[in-house]
Parts: sequence; C-alpha cells; structure tokens
Amino acid sequence: MMMELNDYQYENATATLMFSHEEIQERVETLAHEIDAYYEAQGIEEIVLIGVLKGAFVFLADLVRHLKTNVVMDFIQVQSYEGTESTGNVQFLQDVRCDVKGKNLLFVEDIVDTGYTLQEVRTNFQHRGAGDFKLVAMFDKAERRLVDLQADFVGFEIPDKFVIGYGLDFDEKYRQLPFVAELKLK
Ligand code: IMP
Ligand code: MG
Repeated sequence: MMMELNDYQYENATATLMFSHEEIQERVETLAHEIDAYYEAQGIEEIVLIGVLKGAFVFLADLVRHLKTNVVMDFIQVQSYEGTESTGNVQFLQDVRCDVKGKNLLFVEDIVDTGYTLQEVRTNFQHRGAGDFKLVAMFDKAERRLVDLQADFVGFEIPDKFVIGYGLDFDEKYRQLPFVAELKLK
C-alpha cells in the first residue's frame, strides 16, 4: 500500500491527518472569543470551568489562555469508554472540590460522541443545584448521538471516525500528538 503524505505510521496503527496543529490553534482562539461574547452578553462575569479528564486537558489549557471571562477551574474524571466503543456506562472517578450551587458552569470536553457521558454529568450537576450548565467540546460527532445532548460551543464537527491526538487517546496512547488524526488499526 502507498503511504500517503499525511499518514503517520505507528506500531499497530496508521493515522491520517484530520486537523493540523495550526488549524486547531486558530479554531480554539475563535472559540474562546465566541465563549467570551456569550457570557458578556449574559452579563456573567465569572464562570466555573470544569475540565473533563483526561481527554480535555490539552484543549482546556489552550482555551483558557485565550479567555477574557474570569474563570475558576476544577476537574472531574469520568470513564465511559473501553477501546474504541462507548459503553454507555459512566463512572465518576474524580469529582470537583468547589461548591457548584448557583454557579455558572462551563464543562470542557475533548469530544462528544454518543453523548452518554455528558448527559450523565449534566443530570448529576443539575441535582446539585448548578445555576447554569454549558458545554464546550473541541470535536463533535453529531451523527453518532444517542441521547438529547448538545454542546453549546463546538470546535469542529467530525464524521463517524475514531480520532487520536490533541488529548484524545486510543487505550491511553497518542494524547500528546499536537494534531488530530483518524486512527486505523493495522
Ligand atoms: P460519549 O459518552 O459517547 O459521548 O463519549 C465521550 C468520550 O468518549 C470522550 O470524552 C472521549 O474520551 C471518548 N471518545 C469518543 N470518541 C472518541 C474518539 O474518536 N477518539 C478518542 N476518544 C473518543
Ligand atoms: Mg477517552
């Protein structure tokens, strides 16, 4: 098989470039402006940014450095995936430390796929009396959605492909790639 220019070879997989580092950086900056504009229009001066670990850590780090809105940061870790399949079985591994009652929450997620994870998270935080629940996702596989969950801000909508890089993993690997690529197992 011919090797494409935008293919990366790994031990057990080939990855085909989907978004370059530059494309991602440009979109993240615009996304931050969209988020600032939204909160400014609402007259909201401070939000609680809640990163969904582990995948969101790269995106979150880039995003916050462009945000003008005052943020306090917290993190949750949930588990919903094994290999390349969503299990629809969401487990909280780590919870926030702050009191979320009445607060304006902005969840930061790497990718929304079936929507199970964030639906569970939303229900959980609504029960705790969160003032407002918003979601920003760098990537959105809208056609894969199985529940009524929409991201309020989206970096890129992508087709039903398994992607790695920019925080996204395959069995914990490839998170450090500065670009996003489609993974094809060999
Ligand atoms: P959901 O519950 O099906 O929406 O799955 C969301 C989670 O699945 C994300 O936070 C990711 O951790 C993981 N995930 C979904 N699609 C991909 C992908 O293409 N690559 C890597 N992880 C993914
Ligand atoms: Mg993951």
